[in-house]
Amino acid sequence: MSKVYVFDHPLIQHKLTYIRDKQTGTKEFRELVDEVSALMAYEITRELPLREVEVETPVATCKAYKLEGKKLGLVPILRAGLGMVDGILKLIPAAKVGHVGLYRDPETLEPVEYYVKLPNDVSERDFIVIDPMLATGGSAVAAIQSLKNRGAVSMKLMCLIAAPEGVQKVQEEHPDVDIYVAGVDEKLNDHGYIVPGLGDAGDRLYGTK
Ligand code: URA
Repeated sequence: MSKVYVFDHPLIQHKLTYIRDKQTGTKEFRELVDEVSALMAYEITRELPLREVEVETPVATCKAYKLEGKKLGLVPILRAGLGMVDGILKLIPAAKVGHVGLYRDPETLEPVEYYVKLPNDVSERDFIVIDPMLATGGSAVAAIQSLKNRGAVSMKLMCLIAAPEGVQKVQEEHPDVDIYVAGVDEKLNDHGYIVPGLGDAGDRLYGTK
């Protein structure tokens, strides 16, 4: 069973409160999502392996550390996932960015892929799949499956807010994928919105309705 990590860092929680607030306008919402994403990237990379190196400072030579291990890849789920990418790239600027686009079939209500573009060394990367809202879990499960079908073997899922229903679905379908969130809320309502959540993340990021 995969694990769920809830980031309780005070700065993340403080900013998430303003992100939730319906009075927060598009510009501020976007900036806050960017900042929280960077803070979450800091937390999610905590366990990255290091190798010892030697560095010559202006004063002396010393042992120091550099990142080692697999390279990272980010995969936002279109469209709302895009709002988290720049914040993460501020801390991990060398990460490659793939994209997965999904829409919901109006009859079956199942997610259907309409766009997938990934780095070509898929099997050699650790991926972070990004979607601000883990609601039913349908899109996240489909996006993760899409990466696996193309050879990805190592993934984490990063979301701002999750519903228990979405967490359960990802854990059932992809028990190898850990989930990283700033908050796990109460439930989904009849329209598939997370309660209390923050509303429609895509609309709030891009000022659409
Ligand atoms: N997607 C959103 O943007 N918000 C929700 O509450 C659920 C899904």
